[in-house]
Amino acid sequence: MAPEKPGVALRDARSCDLERLLALEAMFPGDRLSARQFRRHLSSPTARLRVAEFDGALAGYALLFVRRGSAVARLYSIAVDPAQRGAGLGALLLADVEQLARNAGRGILRLEVRADNVAAIALYRRAGYREQGRIPGYYEDGCDALRFDKALDESRP
Ligand SMILES: CC(C)(COP(=O)(O)OP(=O)(O)OC[C@H]1O[C@@H](n2cnc3c(N)ncnc32)[C@H](O)[C@@H]1OP(=O)(O)O)[C@@H](O)C(=O)NCCC(=O)NCCS
Repeated sequence: MAPEKPGVALRDARSCDLERLLALEAMFPGDRLSARQFRRHLSSPTARLRVAEFDGALAGYALLFVRRGSAVARLYSIAVDPAQRGAGLGALLLADVEQLARNAGRGILRLEVRADNVAAIALYRRAGYREQGRIPGYYEDGCDALRFDKALDESRP
């Protein structure tokens, strides 16, 4: 089970969350998910779009891909409303998608992160992710990506 925090609820995203998810995306610079992408992921059997509500308001989301025939699940995106940062929501969303990946029988969770994203890198390292390499020029603006992964079996409580 993912850890709990008072006032926080984690659940699958619904179509009615779309406006709020887009508003959240608009708060961050760079590669954003579009309405079309969110809609596609909402109905995709190989994607799990999870949201964190804090006191009833949508405060963050995480998007997990669980492709058929692969032992590796992928965290495609995770974001928390700037007004709610530092309160543990990112860590809760991460633990939640790890549990979903485990439940789906995946042994590894993999992700890419901008090499200059100090907060996200700290979040992943703290959660036990190990850096596996650098992908030069991965992002639209030419920024490198760092690839991290975590063996989910090892972290089974
Ligand atoms: C990365 C992000 C999701 C973290 O969410 P958050 O809710 O603020 O994170 P948490 O409060 O759960 O923090 C968990 C840990 O992450 C690390 N961390 C989070 N924000 C940090 C910061 N600004 N600086 C350094 N470490 C940070 C800390 O280790 C923290 O644990 P601690 O508070 O016990 O020290 C959030 O900053 C965000 O939405 N950023 C913009 C979107 C983004 O960059 N997503 C990642 C794309 S790969």
